Amino acid sequence: MKTLIFATGNKDKVREVKEMLEGLDVRVLSLKEAGLDPEIVEDGESFRENSLIKARTVYALCGEAVLADDSGLEIDAFDGAPGVYSSRYMGEDTPYTVKCGAILERLKDVPDEERGADFRCAISFICPDGKGGCTEYCEEGAVYGRIAYAPAGNNGFGYDPIFYLPELGKTTSELSDEEKNALSHRGRALRAVKPHIVRWITEE
Ligand code: IMP
Repeated sequence: MKTLIFATGNKDKVREVKEMLEGLDVRVLSLKEAGLDPEIVEDGESFRENSLIKARTVYALCGEAVLADDSGLEIDAFDGAPGVYSSRYMGEDTPYTVKCGAILERLKDVPDEERGADFRCAISFICPDGKGGCTEYCEEGAVYGRIAYAPAGNNGFGYDPIFYLPELGKTTSELSDEEKNALSHRGRALRAVKPHIVRWITEE
């Protein structure tokens, strides 16, 4: 069975991606499970650039097939911030209850039609090409919604409790993992990358 390393330290993302790749003939390992602790400088200006930086750094280190995601929340009223800075917004170690609370406070008098936001994700997949080199793929996905008026739900992670989907009347934190994967930015990007992974798994 082939091994695919998922270049993230975020255990929630690992859970989501492992669930979505279940049933494929591949062993997915997190960085921790692979015994890797790379120094990754995420200085790209887009989700795409950052996911490629992560994937290339880990591929250079181990030479195994690598999957890497970069994702974040873009809030219309903040001109797309926090965007690629989503995990660093207000400080990497600041609890998400505090980060979400600060966003809700800044938007407290903002009406529905100006509360638009999206979650965006780029997923890069690098695999050996069998000729001593490698092949790179990068696919993106997005989900559009609004910033809620108050946090709701206990599933998911990060900004999920305040990311509201008007058509479902729920935040992404109120969805099961399965429901979230079906419509999320990460689910969409991964479904776009999956055919490349399947091809790599089935080739000699
Ligand atoms: P990354 O690890 O640099 O890609 O950081 C992405 C950050 O964006 C996460 O730490 C979360 O703050 C936020 N984010 C990305 N995807 C999601 C999601 O599915 N739900 C909630 N927050 C997310």
